[in-house]
Amino acid sequence: MKFLIEGKRRLCGQIDVQGSKNSVLPILAATLLIKGKSVIHNCPRISDVDAAVNILSDFGCVIERSLNTVTVDASSVSNCHVSEFLMHRMRSSILFLGPVLSRFKKAEFSSPGGCEIGLRPIDLHLSSLKLLGAEVCEKSGTVFCSAENGLKANRIHLSFPSVGATENILLASVLAKGTTVLSNAAREPEITDLANFLNKAGARIIGAGESTVIIVGAQKLHSVEHTVIPDRIVASTYMFCAAVTGGEIEINKCVPTHLEAVFPVLEEAGCVIKRKNDSVFLKAPERLSRIKTVRTMPYPGFPTDLQSPVTALLSVADGTSVVTENIFENRYKYISELNRLGANIRVEGRTAIIDGVDSLAGANVRATDLRGGFALVIAALSAQGKTQISNIFHIDRGYEKPEKVLSSLGANIKRIT
Ligand code: EPZ
Repeated sequence: MKFLIEGKRRLCGQIDVQGSKNSVLPILAATLLIKGKSVIHNCPRISDVDAAVNILSDFGCVIERSLNTVTVDASSVSNCHVSEFLMHRMRSSILFLGPVLSRFKKAEFSSPGGCEIGLRPIDLHLSSLKLLGAEVCEKSGTVFCSAENGLKANRIHLSFPSVGATENILLASVLAKGTTVLSNAAREPEITDLANFLNKAGARIIGAGESTVIIVGAQKLHSVEHTVIPDRIVASTYMFCAAVTGGEIEINKCVPTHLEAVFPVLEEAGCVIKRKNDSVFLKAPERLSRIKTVRTMPYPGFPTDLQSPVTALLSVADGTSVVTENIFENRYKYISELNRLGANIRVEGRTAIIDGVDSLAGANVRATDLRGGFALVIAALSAQGKTQISNIFHIDRGYEKPEKVLSSLGANIKRIT
């Protein structure tokens, strides 16, 4: 499967943003904690959601899917270990560890291993579960956890505000005995959305979205209906697509406050941004100006998931920009593919130095990972001539029908086998 893109077309128009991948994945894992029905609306149709739904049905959940709604009935499920294939296919399967341990008092997972953007260790997840009373041991790539007497509340301080570890701690402690106090928690909006879902189901989580979160253990959770927040990374990605083509775009059904770290970067590049309560309008200049420095940071800083898209955007800006990746140790694999399109970028450690060029030129490139893959789409939209992007299964993990969205804005993009 490939994308064939003819560049140099100015994108104009408006789109509705899909639901957040990084919100719906922990929420799907959370449905295992509920002996009843969970109805989840605004669920994006992406392959990571398919993988998570497959895991839930492996556990015996009854799943119903309509367009963007997934209903999970986890009333009667039996434990099973998440297959090695699925763990490797989708790292965020590790988010099932907390709920499985909470419900079945034991869990066996193949360790997720590294991926295209780094080693992705799970030490913070495992040390936190130990603090909640679990016995944890890792043997030849498999993680064995058990908590025969159930999980017990504790005080946990994360050495790094890990998103996944914060989510696993919420999932493991909502039904634990006692009150857990978590400090240095991740503050991403997806954490707040997960906590809102769980609180609607009868949990008592106070302070989600702040650095200190209190989880008062509940007896049980009941059926719930929830609408997932919009995907702030997808919203920003499509703003970059319009910006790189000198176009204009109205992003509907988004949460502008989730994009506060992105607006100043686009404004420094010369874009005009207008915020409304649930939409954002962007108008780009003919040519973007360089950005002196972009640093990725935990939320509310500039998101690491936009590091590769913003680098693609700046590859044709006027001047030299510097991007520093502070979250993952190996998130520049896509740069060599961008340079094949005529970009002039060099990487020194965690920093990419981007000498803006007047124009990119179409070429055959391959996606290396989800966000790096979309960085190639952004570059191809701006390039002179035709670009073929292969391995687009990476992109389908997190973006719902991107060729449909981009065509509606005037891009010339086709999905070819
Ligand atoms: C989540 O990954 C997101 N994935 C990532 O999005 C996102 O890039 C990341 O958070 C940061 O915002 C989902 O939500 C499904 P972390 P996660 O734990 O939870 C280190 C995308 O493109 N670390 O906050 O894995 C880790 O190596 C994906 O949508 C440990 O050292 O991120 C990394 O350097 C990519 N030990 C840093 O922390 C641990 O136990 C941040 O990781 C856990 C993490």
